[in-house]
Amino acid sequence: MTSSTTTRLCLLVVGTLLLTGCGAAPMPTPTVTATHKATATPTPTPTPTPTPTYNLVDPGSITVVANKHRPLNPLDYEAGDMVVPGVVGNPNGRLLRAEAAAALEQLGTDAAAAGIWMTILSGYRSYATQEQTYNNFVARDGEERANQYSAKPGHSEHQTGLAVDLDDGSGCALYNCFADTAAGQWLAANAWQYGFILRYPLGSEHITGYEFEPWHYRYVGTEVSTAMHNNGIATLEEFFGLEPAPTY
Ligand code: DAL
Ligand code: ZN
Repeated sequence: MTSSTTTRLCLLVVGTLLLTGCGAAPMPTPTVTATHKATATPTPTPTPTPTPTYNLVDPGSITVVANKHRPLNPLDYEAGDMVVPGVVGNPNGRLLRAEAAAALEQLGTDAAAAGIWMTILSGYRSYATQEQTYNNFVARDGEERANQYSAKPGHSEHQTGLAVDLDDGSGCALYNCFADTAAGQWLAANAWQYGFILRYPLGSEHITGYEFEPWHYRYVGTEVSTAMHNNGIATLEEFFGLEPAPTY
C-alpha cells in the first residue's frame, strides 16, 4: 500500500514540522451477517481515539526521518544516552541509543530461542566517522555511485544511534544475499514486533534514495513499526506522507 492509496489523515503542521494523525489508517469495515432480528438499542457514544503525534525533525526523536532531503539538525548532531547492546553478537562494542538497544536485546533473545544468531556490524556512527566512511566510498566508486549506498555525513540514520547493520556470519555481510539467510528472513518477518523496520526495502530506491539494504534496521518504536506492518507501508517517507528523496 502506498500513501496514494492509503486514506490516512496526515496533518502537516509546517511551522513545527510535527505530523499528526499519521499511521491511523482506517481498518476495513467488518462484514456482519445478521443471524437474528435486530432489536432497537441505544447507539453507544463512540470513544474518541487519541491521535498520535510524531516528531520527525528532532534528531533525538525515535521517529526522526533522515534522508537526502532531510539532513539532521544540527548536521553534526551527537546522539546521547547510548549503550553497548548485548545478547546479540557485538565484538566491536558498537553503540545504540538505550531504547533501541533494549529492543534489540529482546529481539536477539527471541531470535536465539528460534535458533537464529546474529551480530552487529555497525551501530552509531558519529559525523566524523560517517564523513570518513562516505569519503572512502567516493574515492573508490565515485560520488554518484557512492550516493546510492552511503549517506553523506549529517544525513545518516547511523548518526542518530537508532540504526543497526546486522549479519549472521554466513558470508553475506553487507550483501543482498543476507536477505536469503535464516537471520535475514527472520528479521524481515519479525523485526517490526520489536520496533524495528527494514529501512531500505527492495523496490523503494526511488523513495528512500538508497539501494536495498537487507541488513540495515532502524528503530522507530513499536507504534510506528506495527502500523507500517499492519498497513503494508514500506517506507517512513510513505508512512509520514513525506516527499520521496531519491537525490540530494
Ligand atoms: N548505508 C546507509 C544509507 C548510510 O550510510 O547511512
Ligand atoms: Zn546501515
